[in-house]
Amino acid sequence: MPDPAYVHAAFSSIAERYVTANHVLSLGTDVLWRERAVKIISEWKPRNLLDIATGTGDLALAVCRALPEVEVLGTDFCRPMLDVAVRRGLTRVLEADALHLPLPGASFDAATVAFGLRNMADYAAALREFHRILRPGGHLLVLDFSMPEGLLAPPYRLYLHHVLPRIAGWLTGNSGAYDYLGDSIEAFPRGKAFCKLLGTAGFRMATSLPLSGGIASIYTAEA
Ligand SMILES: C[S@@+](CC[C@H](N)C(=O)[O-])C[C@H]1O[C@@H](n2cnc3c(N)ncnc32)[C@H](O)[C@@H]1O
Repeated sequence: MPDPAYVHAAFSSIAERYVTANHVLSLGTDVLWRERAVKIISEWKPRNLLDIATGTGDLALAVCRALPEVEVLGTDFCRPMLDVAVRRGLTRVLEADALHLPLPGASFDAATVAFGLRNMADYAAALREFHRILRPGGHLLVLDFSMPEGLLAPPYRLYLHHVLPRIAGWLTGNSGAYDYLGDSIEAFPRGKAFCKLLGTAGFRMATSLPLSGGIASIYTAEA
């Protein structure tokens, strides 16, 4: 499981270059994945939404732009990432550990976490905490990388473990942070296994939607 101190230090060191690195390394597909997530969220018609591990605010800002009626709060334990989010226009942020959110239970209609849960020390405990802050019937959306299966798996592994850390090193000055990325994606449960984890954390109606041949997935569930 990821070490929180290492994760905090890694994101602090790359915060200023994170947005550019993200778009280059995913060849812009991360924008399309977030658009897909926003479309799903719009169908839920939430009044408020907590974007957990909001980082530099990409998903939270996409929700604010597309659904201005939704009250969005972005939370993250890494202040330098939140500082970038605020500079980019996210007005409501909270510095907090996602495993111990200083927020009342049953206080959000929707919660989202994009590329964040995979970095947390205990996936099951984090999901139970997300369930706690959601109103009964509230919705969770998790967007994260997943390992594709079949023919795409070998070339993707090559890219993930050998090509990506080099390019990321040039872009951010910290290739170590991206060595860790590949390992964290390999270790993160995907598809049915992730839906099962959602069930054990108390969620119902878990769904899994593979994106771009399975290199990312959107999971949804109800509290
Ligand atoms: C890869 S970034 C994702 C940022 C953003 N959600 C996005 O889609 O670009 C992962 C974020 O998770 C945050 N994070 C990791 N573990 C966390 C924890 N236990 N509590 C709060 N934030 C955490 C990191 O600080 C970092 O900003």
